[in-house]
Amino acid sequence: MKSRVALITGASRGIGAAIAARFRQDGARVLTPTRAELDLLSDESVDSFLSQLNTDVDVLVHCAGINVLGGGTEFSDEDLHAMLQVNLTAPLRLTRTLARGMMARRYGRIVNISSIWSVVAKPRRAVYSATKAALNGLTRALAVELAPYQVLVNAVAPGYTDTELTRRNNPPAELEAIAQTIPLRRMARPAEVAEVVGFLGSEHNSYMTGQVVIVDGGYSCL
Ligand SMILES: NC(=O)c1ccc[n+]([C@@H]2O[C@H](COP(=O)([O-])OP(=O)(O)OC[C@H]3O[C@@H](n4cnc5c(N)ncnc54)[C@H](OP(=O)(O)O)[C@@H]3O)[C@@H](O)[C@H]2O)c1
Repeated sequence: MKSRVALITGASRGIGAAIAARFRQDGARVLTPTRAELDLLSDESVDSFLSQLNTDVDVLVHCAGINVLGGGTEFSDEDLHAMLQVNLTAPLRLTRTLARGMMARRYGRIVNISSIWSVVAKPRRAVYSATKAALNGLTRALAVELAPYQVLVNAVAPGYTDTELTRRNNPPAELEAIAQTIPLRRMARPAEVAEVVGFLGSEHNSYMTGQVVIVDGGYSCL
């Protein structure tokens, strides 16, 4: 089997780093651009990254994401712009270009990292939830469009996962209390989320497309 090329955004730490490790384990050639090479806040940076990319991409994982806490009546324009740009516009613009090659080669896997806050709610996450719900819609729309070309598109929606982002947005005492509200009584480890992404982005996944797979220890079932 030919070695696949996987491009993972947001792989410097957290869930993205675990996803990159998972694909490397599978023998893929993994591209993990640094912020200096690909800054998703900037359309120019995305365009310049794409124009310099000298390889086909078989697997595209949009993992970079930001969550600046703020309610639906209190967010700043700056935070609105940044979350829309990193969580939604940049994935759309990268996909627009990279999916063309996948269609031409009749093979591709795209995995969007969404969030449980795209399907259930918690205060102070209005814009973040909106961007992640939009990613779910994009997942379904692209899945239908790209299916004739054997390009499968899915989303993974993690629940509380033990990363810097989670620790920044929730004080330690609150995290302890949160763990008790999760049926599995703990947060996810990044590697546990990566395992699901690894499957969806692999050749073992041959028939799942357009799905939002929730990986939350049962949290959203309560
Ligand atoms: N942690 C959770 O509980 C949780 C739950 C649900 C969903 N998620 C989603 O999972 C994904 C990863 O979350 P995480 O917890 O692993 O986050 P994290 O630890 O904060 O890491 C975020 C990653 O995104 C990258 N990034 C941020 N802004 C960027 C930009 N402008 N350009 C390029 N890269 C940028 C960061 O790169 P730098 O090192 O350059 O900053 C970093 O690699 C996100 O989409 C998040 O919304 C997380």
